Amino acid sequence: MTDLAAAWTALEAAARKDAQTRIVDHFAAEPDRLEALVVEACGLRLDLSKQPWSRAGLGAALGLARAAGVEGARSRLFSGEAVNVTEKRAALHMALRAPDGAKFVALGKPVSDEVEAVRLRMKAFAEAVRSGSIKGATGKPFRTIVHIGIGGSDLGPRLVWRALKPLEPQIDLRFVGNVDPADIAQALAGLDAATTLVVVVSKTFTTQETMANAAAARAWLHAALGEAGDANLAAASTNLAACAAFGIPAERVFGFEGWVGGRYSVMSAVGLSCAIALGWDRFEALMEGAAAMDDHFRNAPLAANAPVLLALAHVFNRNGLGRPVRVVEPYADRLGLLASYLQQLEMESNGKRVTLSGAPVAQATATAVFGNAGTNDQHAFFQMLHQGVDVIPVDFVAVAKAEEGQQAQQAILLANAIAQAEALMTGSANAAEPHRHFPGDRPSSFILMDRLTPEALGALIALYEHKVFVEGVLWDINSFDQWGVELGKTLATAVLGELQGGAAGAHDASTAALIERLRG
Ligand code: F6P
Repeated sequence: MTDLAAAWTALEAAARKDAQTRIVDHFAAEPDRLEALVVEACGLRLDLSKQPWSRAGLGAALGLARAAGVEGARSRLFSGEAVNVTEKRAALHMALRAPDGAKFVALGKPVSDEVEAVRLRMKAFAEAVRSGSIKGATGKPFRTIVHIGIGGSDLGPRLVWRALKPLEPQIDLRFVGNVDPADIAQALAGLDAATTLVVVVSKTFTTQETMANAAAARAWLHAALGEAGDANLAAASTNLAACAAFGIPAERVFGFEGWVGGRYSVMSAVGLSCAIALGWDRFEALMEGAAAMDDHFRNAPLAANAPVLLALAHVFNRNGLGRPVRVVEPYADRLGLLASYLQQLEMESNGKRVTLSGAPVAQATATAVFGNAGTNDQHAFFQMLHQGVDVIPVDFVAVAKAEEGQQAQQAILLANAIAQAEALMTGSANAAEPHRHFPGDRPSSFILMDRLTPEALGALIALYEHKVFVEGVLWDINSFDQWGVELGKTLATAVLGELQGGAAGAHDASTAALIERLRG
């Protein structure tokens, strides 16, 4: 047996053994449990003591991290090696937010100077749009941004805007992701084209949905402003030629490189709309928070490393205890899109079934993630978390102080977050009334930040990015490709041709009947 196989066997054995002890009883047996399992990093307090592992279980998980070579893989990631093996690319999102003067290289080629040059252009553009010195086609300052993009070109900016949006923004920001015409119709409703900046965001600039929405938005601008309306367009992409062909002026196009994965791109030019609508200082603070977490991940020993420990807790549940689903529950309405963001980050990155060398994986990989915002979900699906048959681990995320100043209401929110985590773990026995019995022993993590600042949000995003990377190393998969989305795209192109009157293709009977029913 290899060292790695032995480490997996040890983890599984430790998880089986730990499952015989209730989580709450580990506290009595381990007086220093909090010291070992609460990590403070970059303004985040990560409490993993309500996870189902004992000290021995944690030791087995750390042994797995060492046997899987997490430290070496981490060095290769930061050195810009081709960790994305199927696309022969580095994954260097850390370079985007590193301070000026950093020296990142991707596949041996220096990249930091170009990153800084784009950042400077973004900053100048964001400040000029906010000050009104850059104006729309008719000479009016911009009041609204319509951000068009999907997947990684949408979810990160949406998360950041909802989290940090001022109550009365100087420039409002709306998002269009879905190709459903209802989405863009609602985004454009009531807007004045003369004061609207349309920012088209697509790494490839070929994504069907984004191109359709971009064309609709450009037609809307042209209808109101004529061809001069192109002055109200901007773009973020790696495909500069396609941006030019679309009619976006070169000075309004902000580039990034192939080594930025879509779901890791929020701090690249993809974040341009947020940089404008939040103001550059807040966007920069977001990057500083992420950069601090990058440093922590790169330098902290495994046993005190927040992304590593979070990954190990999740793997302990997923692989040690066979739990395929996880809830992410922010007790902060502003973080209400966190689960939706993490669905792409975790499930597109790690929803894989072959290893780096193409062999079938030996372990189960990504968990399905869901959640919205507490306390709302307590009144929706928490029933199942407390009394359902399946054990579904939870990541609680809470913010100590409200930005809106309503600290009395904030206390209610926090009390609920703490109580839910406690209730899930301790349960409450009731033999006489089985429907009132709470089995407890249901694990959770608790991430606490003092305030929802841009820095804390940046650190939170980077925490999960690196957590996903560590899991990918443990499972020996490529966390940076997404071939699983391709087949559906190809078939959609074929089906579209048939819906628009093209010759019928070869399909199963169910698919053929649907196409026949909807053909124009
Ligand atoms: O279909 C999946 C995907 O490729 C994601 O990985 C990506 O974030 C999204 O589509 C959008 O791609 P693009 O930014 O190239 O439009």
